Amino acid sequence: MPTFWHIYIAAGTLITIVFCGWLIAWSAKQGPQNKGDDDLVGHVWDGDLEEWNNPLPKWWLYLFFITIFWGLGYLVAYPGLGGYQGMLGWSSSGQYYDEVDAAAARYEPIYERFAAMEWDDLVADAEARQLGASLYASYCTTCHGSDARGAKGFPNLADGEWIWGDSEQQIVTSIKTGRNAVMPVLTPALGGDEGVTNMVNYVRSLSGLVEADAAAEAMQPMFVTLCSACHGADGTGNQLLGAQDLTDEIWLYGSSEEDVRSTIVNGRNGIMPAHGELLGANRTKILAAYVRSLSLDDSAAGMP
Ligand code: HEC
Ligand code: HEC
Repeated sequence: MPTFWHIYIAAGTLITIVFCGWLIAWSAKQGPQNKGDDDLVGHVWDGDLEEWNNPLPKWWLYLFFITIFWGLGYLVAYPGLGGYQGMLGWSSSGQYYDEVDAAAARYEPIYERFAAMEWDDLVADAEARQLGASLYASYCTTCHGSDARGAKGFPNLADGEWIWGDSEQQIVTSIKTGRNAVMPVLTPALGGDEGVTNMVNYVRSLSGLVEADAAAEAMQPMFVTLCSACHGADGTGNQLLGAQDLTDEIWLYGSSEEDVRSTIVNGRNGIMPAHGELLGANRTKILAAYVRSLSLDDSAAGMP
C-alpha cells in the first residue's frame, strides 16, 4: 500500500476515536437537566409515559471511556493503524504459518515412518492407506474425483489401467513432476475429412466398438506410419509418452465417434500438475502407494 493510505487510515482512525472521546466528555459535563417540563422531549407512550432529556448515568459513560482506552491499547498492541505492525508482532499470516509449521513438525515424523517402508508393504498397509486417503481427499479430488474414478480428461486411478505406468517410480514421477501428454493434431496428415472418418472407424475397431469396413481396414498402414511411433504398431500404447492403449475399453476422452474424432482433429493435451514441491517426498510416496492400492483386489478398505 502507498504511504498515503497508511497515513490516511491511521489518521482517520485516531481522529474518530478522539472525536468520540470529546463527544462523551462534553455530554458528561451537561449536568442534570430535568428542572421543569421544558426538559420533556415530547415523546409520550401509553398516555402518561413521557421521555425526559436526562444525561446518561455515570457508570454508563465510564463504559464508553473504558471501550475507548481498550481500543487505543489494542491499536498499540496489534496491527490496525495503517502500516504499523503493533508491539506484539502478531500477524494473521504469521499465525497461519506458525500453525502450518506446527502441523508439519507434528505429522512429518509419521509421514517419515511410513515413507521408510518397502513399497509393497506400504501399498498393502491399512494404516498407510488411511493416511493416503486423507491426503488424497485434500489434494487430488478436484480433478480425479472423491472416489478416484476420474472424469473425462482426468484419468480413473482405480481401474488398473495406467497411462504412465504402475511401478513405484512411475507413479511417484506422475505425482512429483507431473505429466504433460501431447496428442498432435493429425487432420492434415490424414488428408482431410474422409481420412479422419476412416481413421476414427479404424481406431474404434481396435477395441471392438465397431466392425471395420474396407475403407477403415485400409487405414492400417496409415496408422503404422502416423500413429505407431506413439501408440505402437498394434495400438497398445506407450507409457513413456503417456499415449493410451487404444485397444482396450478404457478411454480418457470418450469412445464415441464424436469423441475420437475430436481427439484426432483437435489433438489433446492432458496435464497432470507437479505436486512434488507442495507435498514433499514422504507424502508423495504415501500418496503414490495409496493410489496404487486402489486397483488391487482388496482395495475397498482404503477408499476415501
Ligand atoms: C506424438 C505422439 C502421438 C502420435 C503421433 C499420435 N498420438 Fe494419439 N495420443 C498421444 C498421447 C500422448 C495421447 C494422450 C493425450 C492425453 O492424455 O491428453 C493420445 C491420445 C489419443 C487418443 C485418446 C485416447 C483416449 O483414451 O481417449 C486417441 C483416440 C488417439 N490418441 C489416436 C491417435 C491416432 C489415430 C493417431 C494417428 C493418426 C495418433 N493418436 C497419433 C500421442 C500421440
Ligand atoms: C488439476 C487437475 C489435477 C490434479 C489436482 C491432480 N491430477 Fe493427477 N492427473 C491429472 C490429469 C489431467 C492426468 C492425466 C494426464 C494425461 O493426459 O496423461 C493426471 C494423471 C495422474 C496420474 C497418472 C495416471 C496414469 O494412469 O498413469 C496419477 C498417478 C495421478 N494423476 C495422481 C494424482 C494425485 C495423487 C493427485 C493429488 C496429489 C493428483 N493426481 C492431482 C490432473 C490432476
